[in-house]
Amino acid sequence: MDSDLKPATEQNKRRISHVTSLDDVFSDNRIKTDEKMYFPSTALVQFSFQNKQKSISALLPMLKKENIKVLDIYKKDQSGKFCIQFNSCYENATKEVVDELRQHAGVANVCASYEPFDESRIWFPQTHSDLDKCGRNVLMYGTELDADHPGFKDGVYRERRNFFTEIALNYKHGYPIPRVDYTPEETETWGKVYKKLSEMYPTYACKQYLQNLPLLSLYCGYSENNVPQLEDVSKFLCEKTGFRMRPVAGFLSPRDFLAGLAFRVFNCTQYMRHSSDPFYTPEPDVCHELLGHVPLLADAEFAQFSQEIGLASLGASDEDISKLAACYLYTVEFGLCKENGDLKAYGAGLLSSISELKHALTTPEKVVKFDPYKASVQEFYVTTYQPVYFVSESFEEAKQKMRDFVKNIKRPFFVQYDPVTSSVRVVDNLSSVQSAVQQLSRDVVFIMDILQEMQHTSNALSQFENLRNIKY
Ligand SMILES: [Fe+2]
Repeated sequence: MDSDLKPATEQNKRRISHVTSLDDVFSDNRIKTDEKMYFPSTALVQFSFQNKQKSISALLPMLKKENIKVLDIYKKDQSGKFCIQFNSCYENATKEVVDELRQHAGVANVCASYEPFDESRIWFPQTHSDLDKCGRNVLMYGTELDADHPGFKDGVYRERRNFFTEIALNYKHGYPIPRVDYTPEETETWGKVYKKLSEMYPTYACKQYLQNLPLLSLYCGYSENNVPQLEDVSKFLCEKTGFRMRPVAGFLSPRDFLAGLAFRVFNCTQYMRHSSDPFYTPEPDVCHELLGHVPLLADAEFAQFSQEIGLASLGASDEDISKLAACYLYTVEFGLCKENGDLKAYGAGLLSSISELKHALTTPEKVVKFDPYKASVQEFYVTTYQPVYFVSESFEEAKQKMRDFVKNIKRPFFVQYDPVTSSVRVVDNLSSVQSAVQQLSRDVVFIMDILQEMQHTSNALSQFENLRNIKY
């Protein structure tokens, strides 16, 4: 799906024959855990100590578990009863905590109540740290390369890929992305791609891309002789549009990848393609991410468009995820837009592919108006050119069309991103709607204050102008 594509060789054709739909490419063979993941559920446990002098701090290590999030610990009343309220998306983890509490020396009268686990709801991340779980669900590549991968027979390359996989799998939200000393061979590969594409961008790239590329050279070290560091790029994007990068080992499932976008987090590979063929890679690599995606993620409108696709994916059915992923592919990866009547590219799969960038913009017969209903069921190819390209007048137009489209996605709740806590709020009952309305009314009051202030300033300026124009 990504980056440079070769014409359909016999080998590629064979591959295409069994990779012709999203379901084929991303059939969800994620690492299964022993437990089933459910929508987060809240448990409330009440208990008391046999010895009333005993402190609750003795129980804290027991609650420090990966799959448990403690919401509240408090003393209920003077009778000596304590309450612990916690969330978990694993049924077994919840039971484990209650069992441990029951067996804990000195603890008595344990009484637990749960919100019933709802199997119909699909788990999705609600905080940035929840994305640590999603980042481990690598479907393709990572360290396991296919036999037709250019680096398949290269032991040194495979060893290097292990190094990048380790970084990605050990990464946790909130930590800086480890810096990498790219080898001279890797830097040379990057340089070849960078040079060739940079010559093409003035003709083929959209204006938002061209506006941001020089800033990336200035602030993140984009140049022919230097592979930029993800950490520097992440900081830059965070200041521009709130997007952050997180390293990933290979292809994530569409569900996990799109979930990151909901938080303005872009899962980003850090390894370099194999040097034997600098203009081809069967998978996303750091050239594709940094040259294809990053300049657009620095555009506010595009960032918003990307996040809205991500938010629509949270808790959606597999069928809807497949449709959203296809829309993502035909916009964020292979999208075209119009500028003064000319076709330009904004899709990362095009902007990181020397051959397909030119191909997409010189085959107008393959270009059709963006329609999410058509894009969502459009077949796509992994190792050869796309059969069709969708063009939008603007990101705003694409966003409006996607908003209409996602209204058809059936979920028993709405989701809202809270930029204050950088978390996703589930809106599924009256009190959550009230809290959303309160937030909205605070925003409206804030905007009214600004407008009023502007009105005063404007009145003051026009009065000043009138005074200036008085002839004495
Ligand atoms: Fe991509």
